[in-house]
Amino acid sequence: MTRRPMIAGNWKMHKLQSEAVELFNGIKDGLRDYTIEQLPEVVVAPVFTSISSVVAQKTECGCGCKGQKIKVAAQNCYWETQGAFTGEVSVEMAKDAGCELIIIGHSERRQYFSETDEMINKKAKAILNNGLVPIICCGETLEQREHGVTDAHITSQIQKALEGITTEDASKIVIAYEPIWAIGTGKTCDADEANRVIKMIRNVVKDLYNTEVADAVRILYGGSVKPETIEEQMSKSDIDGALVGGASLKADSFVKIVLGARSKVNA
Ligand code: 13P
Repeated sequence: MTRRPMIAGNWKMHKLQSEAVELFNGIKDGLRDYTIEQLPEVVVAPVFTSISSVVAQKTECGCGCKGQKIKVAAQNCYWETQGAFTGEVSVEMAKDAGCELIIIGHSERRQYFSETDEMINKKAKAILNNGLVPIICCGETLEQREHGVTDAHITSQIQKALEGITTEDASKIVIAYEPIWAIGTGKTCDADEANRVIKMIRNVVKDLYNTEVADAVRILYGGSVKPETIEEQMSKSDIDGALVGGASLKADSFVKIVLGARSKVNA
């Protein structure tokens, strides 16, 4: 089975509204000469305050894409629909603002905001129940890697994140393998090693569900992805795309990464 590759830009806590609009339009311009079919699925995740402004730019670019060439994701959500949860944003609210996907379980949220696997599982279920796509992040620290517990740690993160999710819903999810030591450090994980871990994740999904689901789930690599690294990463059997931080903050480098991932697009 063929999986549609995905390149997602996680803008983290960057860009005021006007800057976010400029970045989005820069990406749109850079992809103007390509049809949706010629590209991987392209996603950007602005901060909440910029989502509406960015979504307003999702207009027809002249290629017949009806503004669907670049999808918008949220960087987080809360699992309750509404209520007294000061500072939180529900899935329904993110959807209402125009988001089609939501990143959950990013290592920065686990580290700085004490998010647990149980919370990530609740978020994943809420996202799927609302018809959106969760991008579930996982990954090991340098210490865990050095202690040889990378696979065990990631297996546990995935098993807990997917607990109670139906087979039908499971095939829709996207997983991002982001080794924490490779995030924002300029140190990319060796492509063969990233592919090995991603294959291992696919096997965890197979054990939880079946081969069909494991073959359908897209698994991205994240951690210092750059225009210079993407082609080798995409040449590996199980890497279906990238979750990009720093290099997604400039239109030209993000566009290069998107175009560098075309080897797996079946146009
Ligand atoms: P960098 O690409 O800046 O390493 O960030 C990766 C990341 O955390 C994406 O979610």
